[in-house]
Parts: sequence; C-alpha cells; structure tokens
Amino acid sequence: MSNLRLAIIIGSTREQRFGDKITNWFADRAREHGGFEIDVIDLADVPLTAQGPARGPLPAEFADFAARIDAADAFVFSTPEYNHGYPASLKAALDILREQWWGKPCTFLGYGGISGGIRAVEQLRQVVGELHMADIREAFIVPFGPFRFFDKETGEVTDPDAAATVVTVLDRLQWWAQALADARKARPFA
Ligand SMILES: Cc1cc2nc3c(=O)[nH]c(=O)nc-3n(C[C@H](O)[C@H](O)[C@H](O)COP(=O)(O)O)c2cc1C
Repeated sequence: MSNLRLAIIIGSTREQRFGDKITNWFADRAREHGGFEIDVIDLADVPLTAQGPARGPLPAEFADFAARIDAADAFVFSTPEYNHGYPASLKAALDILREQWWGKPCTFLGYGGISGGIRAVEQLRQVVGELHMADIREAFIVPFGPFRFFDKETGEVTDPDAAATVVTVLDRLQWWAQALADARKARPFA
C-alpha cells in the first residue's frame, strides 16, 4: 500500500449525472494502479450551499471535507463541461479551502460532449494555480463520455486504450505527488 493519498473529486452534483459513473470507473483503475491510497470525494455530499470564509475559522460543516483534502497528496478533479465551463460546485469546493490545497499536484478527468470537457479543464488550470497547486500536463479527456464511454448493452468500456491512458496519467501524477510530498516534508509550504 502506497503512503501517497489521492483524492478523486466528483465535480458534478446533478441528479442522474454521468460523473459518478465515470469517476468511480477511474477510481477503480487508480486502485489497480497501486501508486496511491484512494479517497473518492463526492461533492454531492459536501454542503456547498454554505459559504466558507476566505480567512478565519472554517465552519464545522466543512470539517470532514477539509480533513480529507488536507490528508491528500494529490488530486484528480472530475469535471463535466457545462456551457464551455466547469460546474459551480467545483468552484465552491475550491474556494472554501485554502492551505489544504497548497503545494500539491493535480490532474483532471474531463468529459462532456464534443469537447471532452477540455474547455472546463483549461479553465480549472487557471484557478488551481492561484491555490498553489501544480497541475500536470497529462489529463484524462473523454469526448462524448455519457454517450460512448460505456457500451449501452454490455456496460463495457468502449475505448480499448482508456485504462492504459489512466495508467500514464497516474504515473506522472505519482512522480509529482512524491516529489512535492518530499518537498513539503523538507520545507513546509508557506
Ligand atoms: C447545462 C449543460 C450545458 C452543457 N454544455 C456543454 C458544453 O458546453 N460542451 C460540452 O461538450 N458538453 C456540454 N454539455 C454536456 C455535458 O457535458 C454532459 O451531458 C455531461 O455528461 C454532464 O455531466 P454530468 O452528467 O456528470 O453532470 C452540457 C450539459 C448540460 C446539462
């Protein structure tokens, strides 16, 4: 078991969403990868309607979310694309916390229609830098995810290269996660 913790964050909170299905598939591949201990965080379970402070003590309802982000060494943000952007749930989740994100690497699981969520992912890259995260080059991008990723009849994944692509993404993320975990240990990020 790895000592690196990876938080995989389900960004869509819609009823009848596709996000939980593809993210849980990704999380299973991440468990098989073995480079991380996996924590799947579903933003549908986080009280995002409450507002967190930019400074000062965190309201008690965010304690569990904050502890799990704090414990993570790396993040995967699973994001759909809505009207060429990422969902408000992800922005609220990012904005609630501060130092729990700092000095850690992240990547993305993007999905949508023709775009594969790439515009949402590129917008998120702008935001995570402000939170002192290091976004890595590789991401897992799935065009027409809800329509094509799983075979409608068999439930099998239709892209034969998908699992191998996840391994490549996680290999890179693991390198950054270990490097930055070592760096934070040697010199806490401040
Ligand atoms: C309000 C809304 C806007 C959307 N806009 C886009 C878009 O701009 N580009 C795209 O590729 N897909 C778009 N889609 C398709 C979604 O990305 C796709 O349905 C995806 O499965 C939604 O994620 P979810 O089911 O996990 O919430 C949109 C869907 C919704 C509901």
